[in-house]
Amino acid sequence: MPIKSKDIITTVDLPKGDVDEILRQSEVMLDYLKSGKVPELLKGSILATLFFEPSTRTRLSFTSAMLRLGGSVLGFSSEEGTSVKKGESLEDTVRMADSYSDVIVIRHPETGSAKRAAHVARKPVINGGDGPDHHPTQGLMDLFTIKREKGLRNVNVALCGDLRYGRTTHSLIYLLAMYGLGINLVSPPSLRMPDEIISDVKKAYGAEIKEFRTLQEVVTEVDVLYVTRIQKERFLDISDYGNLEGSYRVDKKLLKKAKEGLIVMHPLPRVNEISTEVDSTPFAKYFDHAAYGVPVRMALLSLLLGKI
Ligand code: NCD
Repeated sequence: MPIKSKDIITTVDLPKGDVDEILRQSEVMLDYLKSGKVPELLKGSILATLFFEPSTRTRLSFTSAMLRLGGSVLGFSSEEGTSVKKGESLEDTVRMADSYSDVIVIRHPETGSAKRAAHVARKPVINGGDGPDHHPTQGLMDLFTIKREKGLRNVNVALCGDLRYGRTTHSLIYLLAMYGLGINLVSPPSLRMPDEIISDVKKAYGAEIKEFRTLQEVVTEVDVLYVTRIQKERFLDISDYGNLEGSYRVDKKLLKKAKEGLIVMHPLPRVNEISTEVDSTPFAKYFDHAAYGVPVRMALLSLLLGKI
């Protein structure tokens, strides 16, 4: 089945053929960007960005992707100034965006919100993050970054930090398993990856998943250290956050023990998980990683709109 008109809600049921195609077309888009000549594939198309939660990279890179391809963008970056403030439901807001645009990206604090949006929209809906659950386009750009930096064969990846609430890791783990990459999970016990996700990934792909408590245990073994921020806004009791802050810090001292060629990735924003002293080292790939959001989203939008 072609990707055209699909909704992209999670990575759980994304067929590998679709992911292969998105990766392939992302390379094409990257080449266009590098050459400075990008065809106006999306001229006349409109993207609606419905962001009920803060965002820098996701919203701006979707906007950039659309504009680069000659399309247009409308939307909002918080519910302030929208009729949600008057009590309008998510469904009704989405119905309106659906009639004003050709494709919708939505970010919302509630798990399942993107699925609810897709249920009422006729146009394709992309989940830009539904609470702590999923963030599939981040997972796709994470995979694209790993492919470009390390390839997709014999690569051992550690997902570190807040694996409980970190939606990017929930999307990425399925993609890592899909391509047979090594999966290592590093978190404090209170922020472990949910058991349902671990068992689902094992069942779906027969993946072997190892768990660790500290970065020291994996830094000598892995090719990719994927670091995440503690998702402070998702904690019910903020005193728990205070206890965890600073417990997973990547700095030059830690990286002295790194396996040769190790790269550090982060979906960003970072708070203090990666010391800024790492930025100027060859380990640091998190800013290149963020830049890949544009070609990957260009590819996805073009595929969903049936233009490539
Ligand atoms: C992530 C998110 O929103 O889940 N950010 C992003 O989209 N790059 C990660 C985070 O906020 O920690």
